[in-house]
Amino acid sequence: MPTTILSLHRKHGPLVRTGPSELSVADLSAIKKIYGPGYQVPQDRLHSVWQGHRKFNLFAERDEGVHASQRRLVSRAYAMESLRDLEAYVEESAKVFLGKMGEGVDGGMVVDLGNRVHLFAFDVIGEVTFSLRFGFMMLVPTMARSSKPKLYWAHDFLMPYIGNWLGITARHGSLRSFAMREVEARKDRGTDRKGILSKLFDVQKEKPSEFNNNAVVSMATSNIFAGSDTTAISTRAIIYYLLKKPQYKQRLVDEIDYLRRQGKLSDPVKLEEADNMPYLQAVMYEALRLHPAVAGTVVGVNPWVVDRNTEIFGEEVESFRPDRWLKNEAGDMKRFFFASGSGARMCLGRSISWMEMSKLIPTLFMHYELELAEPEKEWTMKC
Ligand code: HEM
Repeated sequence: MPTTILSLHRKHGPLVRTGPSELSVADLSAIKKIYGPGYQVPQDRLHSVWQGHRKFNLFAERDEGVHASQRRLVSRAYAMESLRDLEAYVEESAKVFLGKMGEGVDGGMVVDLGNRVHLFAFDVIGEVTFSLRFGFMMLVPTMARSSKPKLYWAHDFLMPYIGNWLGITARHGSLRSFAMREVEARKDRGTDRKGILSKLFDVQKEKPSEFNNNAVVSMATSNIFAGSDTTAISTRAIIYYLLKKPQYKQRLVDEIDYLRRQGKLSDPVKLEEADNMPYLQAVMYEALRLHPAVAGTVVGVNPWVVDRNTEIFGEEVESFRPDRWLKNEAGDMKRFFFASGSGARMCLGRSISWMEMSKLIPTLFMHYELELAEPEKEWTMKC
């Protein structure tokens, strides 16, 4: 789908009608208007299917006023001040990830990092939402075997929770039941940890009529389906592009080594330290520019299209070139960086996912000399 829209824009220009009432917009001044204050963009039919008859569903809510008031209720749980509490949980998962990498891995061994990153992203969502590690990373066998059976094994194990991860309709129902069970379990268990659910329970106490149990479950469900695959896809993209273009991997490794020698890098890397790593930041922006984990709405802006606009992003927009983010004009590029959406519906979990990647990527490259098992092979997309 993203590649089809891209080629349609190349053929027809900045406005492409993709259905009787659907428009894909790549015109910069129209984009500013769509995401500017007060402009209401109808959400697509996919959103209404998700919503069903439930009252509180931030993701699917089509009325902009209702959406805004729902978002106000929950936004504190995802705000920067929460990150301090959540970082410790991401750190624990990063340690498990690194520990698993160390088990039985000899030099020259082939490891399915894509699969491991996926399990990591699910475990982090468990930690930050339910204060519970799902334990998916424990599925990684000690000795690296062929990747295929491992993937099927993991998939079988995950099926009761995430449904068939290739089938989004089957998946949302089972995710919601899973979230409902886990919200109840978390209430029974109690905890001192300040995960997202703790903060949502506080909102519920303060405003029980506006934010009932259904609303809590709805947010927990959203976290799982909006925050796991997306972060996994983005982390994989970062690793893939770095390994595909070893000259940029080397620049990142140099940045890591330099800071390490100066005693400015912890293990695992802290969010605050990663925020002060310009090359790491450039790498993350560039990978998500080229490979955003989501695509488009009804009168919508598709990050696959906009983030390839040469007016904003300069030459060679199809290439992975992190250095473009180190230039002075990067401010404009950040304004048109759509991987996390924009405006009133911008991703609520953006800081959380950025933190996951900021910690995992430099820590991984600090410890391991990674390269692609089949460097000539291009990755293929099933969309
Ligand atoms: C790199 C990883 C991620 C990407 C690329 C991503 C992308 C997006 C995008 C593009 C939207 C806007 C969708 C729209 O226009 O309707 C969105 C919304 C949302 N995301 Fe993320 N997301 C990521 C990670 C997360 C995480 C980790 C969480 C939760 C912990 C999360 C929670 C949400 C929620 C709750 C919304 C709905 C916001 C609203 O409607 O007001 N996301 N995400």
